[in-house]
Amino acid sequence: MTEGAGEYDFVVVANRLPVDRVVADDGEVTWRTSPGGLVTALEPVMRQADGAWVGWSGDAGEAPAPFDTDEMRLVPVPLSEEEVATYYEGFSNDTLWPLYHDVIAVPTYHRTWWDAYVRVNRRFAEAAAAQAAPGATVWVQDYQLQLVPAALRELRPDLKIGFFNHIPFPPYELFAQMPWRRQVVEGLLGADLLGFQRQSDANNFLRVCRRLLGIDSRRHRIVVTDSGGAQREVHAAAFPISIDTPAFEELAGRDSVQSRVTEVRFELGAPRKLLLGVDRLDYTKGIMHRLKAYGELLDDGVVDPEDTVFVQVATPSRERVDSYRQLRDEIELAVGRINGEHGTIGRAAVHYLHHNQPREEMSSLYQAADVMLVTALRDGMNLVAKEYAASRLDERGVLVLSEFTGAADELNGSLLVNPHDISDLKRTIAQALQMDEKEQTRRMRQLRRRVRSHDVTRWAEQFLAALESGHGSGTTVSEHAQATAGRS
Ligand code: ADP
Ligand code: G6P
Repeated sequence: MTEGAGEYDFVVVANRLPVDRVVADDGEVTWRTSPGGLVTALEPVMRQADGAWVGWSGDAGEAPAPFDTDEMRLVPVPLSEEEVATYYEGFSNDTLWPLYHDVIAVPTYHRTWWDAYVRVNRRFAEAAAAQAAPGATVWVQDYQLQLVPAALRELRPDLKIGFFNHIPFPPYELFAQMPWRRQVVEGLLGADLLGFQRQSDANNFLRVCRRLLGIDSRRHRIVVTDSGGAQREVHAAAFPISIDTPAFEELAGRDSVQSRVTEVRFELGAPRKLLLGVDRLDYTKGIMHRLKAYGELLDDGVVDPEDTVFVQVATPSRERVDSYRQLRDEIELAVGRINGEHGTIGRAAVHYLHHNQPREEMSSLYQAADVMLVTALRDGMNLVAKEYAASRLDERGVLVLSEFTGAADELNGSLLVNPHDISDLKRTIAQALQMDEKEQTRRMRQLRRRVRSHDVTRWAEQFLAALESGHGSGTTVSEHAQATAGRS
């Protein structure tokens, strides 16, 4: 028996558990779905896997005891108030997040934040090691936990260790800014297989290994020498993530959701056309760019608020980080300005909802929307784009999609746009609003074919099969070429 081993053959480790603990003023505890794409994608995978999920419960202080749901074991990892500020809001979301997203915001480097990152990563590794059975597979998720693979290997050399990065991996020229760049790469190289969203992310990582560590990293393969002198192969490849397409289709088809679609259209003043944005309130999502383009289209008289309405759903996110606070103020100012200039009583030009929506409501909004605006300045994948396609059982609607998302590599049938180019964005929104139904259907069929054939089950199977076989082949070059060929 391996010392300190647990009983699970499959363990997922992520910064967040799939549910957040909410403690009301009267002490009542409830759990609600955690925000973001990582949880949307992984939760259905875990429901079928019978494993343990190790993660933070979303509030500071002592962690609740591990508990079982019908489908998995949840193992909360504690974070103190100070660690929430330094490891989570600080190093994860004010250092790594902006650095890995093209420095859209300026990354902050603090040594005390790094110390907390090292300490907390060690804690996650220990918690995962305690759950994993001898020889188990442990799948580490995302940028908050890049030191976990090496820490875990040290604790439990018997494990198979995979890592998936949900966000972009930056080019060497940006990554090299980070004072602890070497330690981060060495942390990641503790894994057997490293998965990235796009081939370009995997290539960036392989180049970082060559430039920084002088390691031989040809094609997908990196040869590392462990402390004992033994050589080991690590594979790095692209595994573009997806959604639980059958579940989104089933939800979209429910009678209650269909009635709500009609209601939403009516409430927004049908036959007015609906433009929709759905995002965490994050500076990577290009929400200001789309508001600017829409505002100018109204100013120019190209779009008439009598005929068109824009709904922006923006989930609150990382609200104690300065750049997020500032962004919220800017968005609310812009929305106020557009409505002040173009709204009338009972008929807003922009509806802005700053809260979480139930899944049914999201599906209804997707189905009511004539045009979906995904204008991220940089995004690992963007699952909202895929959810929109999966929800359109009627094969209607137009997806305007930023070329700086991982989804742009796959989703032929969208109207690709450079969100920095406001003129291009305005032209593309106008084109989307005018597109005839036949063309909409032709494009939507292409989108739907892709999300149906490449869903999250396939993603997980491919990653885990590659981890199992030790070959690390993600999206093949020819598959990638097929996806990008004939892009319109
Ligand atoms: P990210 O992971 O950066 O947040 P994604 O687009 O990949 O971006 O994933 C966002 C996920 O969060 C999607 O599953 C989307 O449906 C969900 N989501 C976004 N906004 C809301 C909201 N207001 N209410 C409920 N779910 C939301
Ligand atoms: C993105 C990240 C996830 C993160 C999510 C929500 O999807 O890739 O790792 O969990 O955003 O962000 P939060 O900081 O609230 O966990």
